Amino acid sequence: MSSFWHWYIIVLTLGNIAACYWLIRWTAKPRPGEASATETTGHVWDNDLSEYNQPMPRWWLWLFYITIVFGLVYLVLYPGLGRFDGVLNWSQYSAYQQEVKQMHERTASLYESYAAKPVPMLANDPEAMDTGRRLFANNCSVCHGSDGRGAKGFPNLADASWQYGGEPETLKQTITNGRNGVMPALGASLGQSKLEAVAAYVYSLNGRNAPQELVDRGKDVFMTQCVACHGADAKGNPQIGALNLTDDTWRYGGSLETIKETILNGRNGQMPAQKELLTPEQIHVLAAYVYQLSGQAGQRSASSE
Ligand code: HEC
Ligand code: HEC
Repeated sequence: MSSFWHWYIIVLTLGNIAACYWLIRWTAKPRPGEASATETTGHVWDNDLSEYNQPMPRWWLWLFYITIVFGLVYLVLYPGLGRFDGVLNWSQYSAYQQEVKQMHERTASLYESYAAKPVPMLANDPEAMDTGRRLFANNCSVCHGSDGRGAKGFPNLADASWQYGGEPETLKQTITNGRNGVMPALGASLGQSKLEAVAAYVYSLNGRNAPQELVDRGKDVFMTQCVACHGADAKGNPQIGALNLTDDTWRYGGSLETIKETILNGRNGQMPAQKELLTPEQIHVLAAYVYQLSGQAGQRSASSE
């Protein structure tokens, strides 16, 4: 704040208070010769209703004085006068910091008890899952959807198909350090004819029909160009996040057109690392939440019954 505005605010604020004080004094004093107990303002309503011209009652005046004193005391204690911080040194920022600190202290013991439980066990703890749901809504749902079912380009976390894996440790790795799946743009090196063929092959891997001649040629292309990452069975490789191309769940889309687009231009899914944003305990709870979302917690308890 420049010193002009600093003084502008001080002069205006104090000037207003002084003006209020003066106004009250001025209206409170009966002016000589003017007011007496029987004098009226001269207005008459409904034939016989008239108004006395008397100063305001004392208690009413005192309310005004108290308000002024309150205002001045407030301005001494709290920030209000330009750059002056107030003698209590209170600020919105420090108040917020204080609240955050208190919140952390209150939740620390809770998170400690969560951290002590293994992920599959935590996934069956309804209270921990309430916390997980809130964390997910605040940190993950923008991309994965509030129900975790994802969208085009963003994985569905509520099914059993995994890009990197759904084991507790893998989930924690993914959330902590992020992931970056790189599908190279192969269109230029393949050329149109091979591109058509290999796209038809991938299309046919999901129980759909494509011209046999194309599929046969496409398989050859796949075995040289794609096998290193997606594997000979095209079921993918969780180490590098190469997607399973046979399970009819699609990250970017399974139409022939979209498959061609993927091969032509490549894809580059980015899951941001959370380690700077969340504590290890929060990540632990989130791993359990995703574990539970994907139905693994239910399976486990069902099989142990
Ligand atoms: C260098 C490793 C690599 C090679 C080579 C590779 N891919 Fe991929 N592919 C990936 C990765 C990683 C992803 C996931 C990309 C992401 O996470 O955004 C992927 C994704 C895909 C997808 C998207 C699947 C979906 O669910 O939408 C298709 C289709 C695909 N690849 C087909 C192919 C074909 C066909 C070839 C060979 C012409 C090929 N890939 C070669 C690594 C590779
Ligand atoms: C900015 C968008 C974004 C946010 C925010 C985000 N994610 Fe992701 N997430 C992705 C993308 C994109 C991928 C796929 C990465 C790839 O293709 O390599 C992914 C992948 C994942 C995977 C791997 C799924 C698998 O099949 O292996 C998990 C688990 C996951 N995210 C959990 C979370 C959690 C938990 C949060 C909240 C703390 C979160 N994500 C926040 C975009 C996001």
